[in-house]
Amino acid sequence: MNETAHHKVAHHLHQALWRIYRRAARPLPWAQGGNLPWDDPEFSARMLREHLDESHGAASRQLPERQAQLDWLWQKLKLQAGQRVLDVTCGPGLYAVELARRGCLVTGVDFSPAAIAYAQELAQAQGVNGRCTFVQQDVRQMNLAEQEFDAALLLYGQLAVFSRSDARALLAQIAQAMRRGGRLVVELLNQDKVDKKESRWWYTDETGLWGDAPYLHLGERFWYAEERLSLERFLILHLETGQLDEIQLCDQTYAVPEMLALMQETGFSQVTPHLAWDTLPLYDADEWVVYVAER
Ligand SMILES: C[S@@+](CC[C@H](N)C(=O)[O-])C[C@H]1O[C@@H](n2cnc3c(N)ncnc32)[C@H](O)[C@@H]1O
Repeated sequence: MNETAHHKVAHHLHQALWRIYRRAARPLPWAQGGNLPWDDPEFSARMLREHLDESHGAASRQLPERQAQLDWLWQKLKLQAGQRVLDVTCGPGLYAVELARRGCLVTGVDFSPAAIAYAQELAQAQGVNGRCTFVQQDVRQMNLAEQEFDAALLLYGQLAVFSRSDARALLAQIAQAMRRGGRLVVELLNQDKVDKKESRWWYTDETGLWGDAPYLHLGERFWYAEERLSLERFLILHLETGQLDEIQLCDQTYAVPEMLALMQETGFSQVTPHLAWDTLPLYDADEWVVYVAER
């Protein structure tokens, strides 16, 4: 690095450190969208590595757990070959393609470019291309025909990254896209198990989710008791450029009665909450409530 470039980086680092120092004591929930930058092409490529890394289940669950979930879902959603299934926030299509292999006609929607490209390749490789449609889109802008689906999935807590009003609108939209008697499954964090302690952490890495050159990750967790919302703020300082990324991830939690009411108000009936995945052997089963509802 020549001297001018070196000065530029030093200047950016200096500015970044002051931005960190002057950060808001408590961030305002949703002010920055409240979600990870899933739709950023570079982030989505790095996140895809995490989805496909079978050594952990942080982005998508590991294969044996997915198989156990799929068998449970098949039964609870009363799925049959030939039925039409909507996978909302489908990620790399690991569930969608398996359902297509079992004979369903699956539409997966997700706004991560790398995940959708992978889902399309996977469907092709598994020979179920003709039974899968993958759409790269923000699920809040889905444009679905009425009564198009027999079943719908909203897995791994993704309803929680939307504000209460966006979550309500999304559920209503899914309801109108489903036929009467069709079934929806929504997996959400169990509010009682959510970590409500404020905390801070840091680590360094040279390659990982946040970048492929050395960076310092600073994290903070906040709990907003009135909104029953958890917010994580990640500050990523890229050492080679001095660039600072700030990401705020909101998790809107719901008590079981609130979610039952929300699902009923948006067009679903016979909503059954299943605590801890009905004891399925998932590493974090205890942290979740799975709602199964009828349209
Ligand atoms: C934790 S991953 C789970 C993916 C998949 N359900 C699985 O378990 O393998 C969450 C997914 O939600 C997607 N997502 C989050 N917010 C979204 C939005 N507003 N519109 C579309 N996709 C979204 C992300 O791109 C990501 O692929």
